[in-house]
Amino acid sequence: MRVQKMHPVIGLEILDLDLSNPLPDESFKQIRAGLNEYSLILIRNQNLTEEQHVNFSKRFGNLMTHVLTQYLTTPYPELYVLSNKSINGKPIGNHKEGWNWHSDWSYYEVPCLGSVLYAREVPPEGGDTLFSSMCAAYEALDDNFKKRLLGLEAVHSYVGYFGKAFKDRAPLSDAQRARTPDVTHPIVRTHPETGRKSLYVGEDIISHIIGLEKGESADLLAQLNAHAVSEEFVYRHNWREGDLIIWDNRCTMHCATPYDDQKYFRVMHRATIEGVDRPR
Ligand SMILES: [Fe+2]
Repeated sequence: MRVQKMHPVIGLEILDLDLSNPLPDESFKQIRAGLNEYSLILIRNQNLTEEQHVNFSKRFGNLMTHVLTQYLTTPYPELYVLSNKSINGKPIGNHKEGWNWHSDWSYYEVPCLGSVLYAREVPPEGGDTLFSSMCAAYEALDDNFKKRLLGLEAVHSYVGYFGKAFKDRAPLSDAQRARTPDVTHPIVRTHPETGRKSLYVGEDIISHIIGLEKGESADLLAQLNAHAVSEEFVYRHNWREGDLIIWDNRCTMHCATPYDDQKYFRVMHRATIEGVDRPR
């Protein structure tokens, strides 16, 4: 397979690959190894059915279903839809989702391994996604600061995030809240496959760092989040229809950006790969 690096610290593009054809195990192995080394894989110009998207994603592991079940596709509940489109007055997907820096599903005890996002319809301008290498961000910290972070844990709260991100919506149901209790994760985690350390933070999802005064916790989080998304660690992706991106949520953060949702439609389908271990 022909490949090219996309950015100094994150991202590998695989060229000339058509995922609607059977993918040999050897080729998949190369993609999997590339994901470990570059944290993000881009494959452009795909024309996939929902079934093909799901089947390719399953090569990475079991798939998870989103707690907002109203935005899953039928008959593939493994696909979570991000969109501003409605059919018969009913939104087909979640809109304005992920417009902050986060790792997908960090609010679970065992967060997801990765995400497989496929662009079905994109606006001609806007709607870029930013991706940050949390390994590179961690490695750039000075040793004293790294020591200060060792052992610190933070509370990740989906209920808190939902309240901040979707103030204009009906609150989560009791069943949805029951599926998303607050969880605690270390601020620095070690990648279970590569052994690389990375920051594990996020903007709205973390309520506080355990054991610190409220102000100190907020200041440290703001400092870490700002550092983690410094320009040198961030790749900006301008989507084209048919782009498929797989990223490793164990060592990256990402952030969606707005677009003119009155003028354009955007339809993205995401499969989410189950994690196999708790961050540590
Ligand atoms: Fe996300």
